[in-house]
Amino acid sequence: MIRSNVAELLNSNNFLQEVTLKGWVRTFRANRFIAINDGSTINNIQCVVDFEKTEESILKRITTGAAISVKGTLTESQGKGQTVEIQVSEIEILGDSNPEEYPIQPKKHSFEFLRENAHLRIRTNTFSAVMRVRSALSFAVHKYFVENGFYNFHAPIITGSDAEGAGEMFNVSTLDKMNIPKNEDGEIDYTNDFFGKETNLTVSGQLEAETYAMALGKVYTFGPTFRAENSNTARHLAEFWMIEPEVAFNNLDDNMDLAEDFIKSVISYVLQNCKDDISFLDNRLTQEDKSKPAIERNEMSLIEKLNFVIDNNFKRVSYTEAIDILRNCKPNKKKKFQYIINEWGADLQSEHERYLVEKHFKCPVILFDYPANIKAFYMRLNDDGKTVRAMDVLFPSIGEIVGGSQREERLDVLQQKIAELNIDEKELWWYIDTRKFGTAVHSGFGLGFERLVQFTTGMSNIRDVIPYPRTPQNAEF
Ligand code: 4AD
Ligand code: MG
Repeated sequence: MIRSNVAELLNSNNFLQEVTLKGWVRTFRANRFIAINDGSTINNIQCVVDFEKTEESILKRITTGAAISVKGTLTESQGKGQTVEIQVSEIEILGDSNPEEYPIQPKKHSFEFLRENAHLRIRTNTFSAVMRVRSALSFAVHKYFVENGFYNFHAPIITGSDAEGAGEMFNVSTLDKMNIPKNEDGEIDYTNDFFGKETNLTVSGQLEAETYAMALGKVYTFGPTFRAENSNTARHLAEFWMIEPEVAFNNLDDNMDLAEDFIKSVISYVLQNCKDDISFLDNRLTQEDKSKPAIERNEMSLIEKLNFVIDNNFKRVSYTEAIDILRNCKPNKKKKFQYIINEWGADLQSEHERYLVEKHFKCPVILFDYPANIKAFYMRLNDDGKTVRAMDVLFPSIGEIVGGSQREERLDVLQQKIAELNIDEKELWWYIDTRKFGTAVHSGFGLGFERLVQFTTGMSNIRDVIPYPRTPQNAEF
């Protein structure tokens, strides 16, 4: 007999059909009703056992977490809360789960507790919903780019260049740690290391993606990136996934259009294709809100927030305008911000970004034209000589979700910038080559995938939207 899954059975009206189903017991009540989940949907299917015909030894082993196989007939449900159920004729215990030891009992667990049990937390409704949405979002990302003429570019994960300057890097080395070779200056001698030079895990695939955009036109990366910054926040991971499109002949306006269209498209995909999971998460957030003080509650439900993003234009604001707003806003004047904004040139912190998005504009914001000296070397210098064609997309509850720019395509301006920052030009010879041979205007951005999953699922901590989070002092599993 073909094995069915819960999702298709719940949508079936092929009653009296004989079915076989395998899954895990969520609950077993009254010695009669088993709720089985097999991951195909957030919903369980009710299986009704005839306890008089079932051996006592089997009934005892139907415990939360156990893997079982049932055979039976699909029938219209008599009870409330479900439309179909299985009248079980045969039941087999595939894998026991000792109720004394199994940590995931059918009750509310804290997210902290579940993080310590990250290998089992996926068996809860919340985490299965989040991870199904994560999977759908990942598919939607590839779908969007393929449908829009992009090629998927696999950036190297081990890199010999440290030029991005996006953060501290994780060193990759096979040198004997007990006996590290040093050169005459007392520095580590990498010539005998695996690659014959110092290498690190990549912080971004952008520089390599730029070289590919200069031939394939439109490319995107979607891969893991690594940052060894000691940021213990609800929005930072040491290992996260980033999506980086790079497009030849696009200027900054085109780049903003792409970012906005892309984000709207993937969120729409999830709203249309993950209805059960999103509605569960929407309800979860509403319940969670009820336990919070009124000022901390969300003004919109999750679904309303997602629709709001899809239906409204992102507000495009220059850095200079933003500084004016921030300088004169109440929390700045009353010194409520941790970092007070005094003058043009200040780097914006997450508190400022969130003020702009959540309090001032009340919609997603794209900030552009930042001061050159707070942004990376590769961003295109504006005619004013002090700002660059940078853009950050800022989202409610998340803050920065996208960082990108129009790239400096002029060889002389790029070389001057590299010299000013004391970056070794020799290290970047291949990058600089693209400005020597057929250089062209081009732009791109990076979107932090986990921040997107956070926004879409309404989860407040980034550690709860990636299966096994890597953060300072934590690499369990
Ligand atoms: O703004 P960032 O550092 O930009 C770059 O790396 C560019 N090279 C991208 C490009 O233009 N191709 O990072 C991009 C995004 C951020 O906006 C944020 O969403 C996410 O990556 N991000 C992180 N997500 C989780 N944990 C961290 N530690 C992150 N650092 C950045
Ligand atoms: Mg950034």
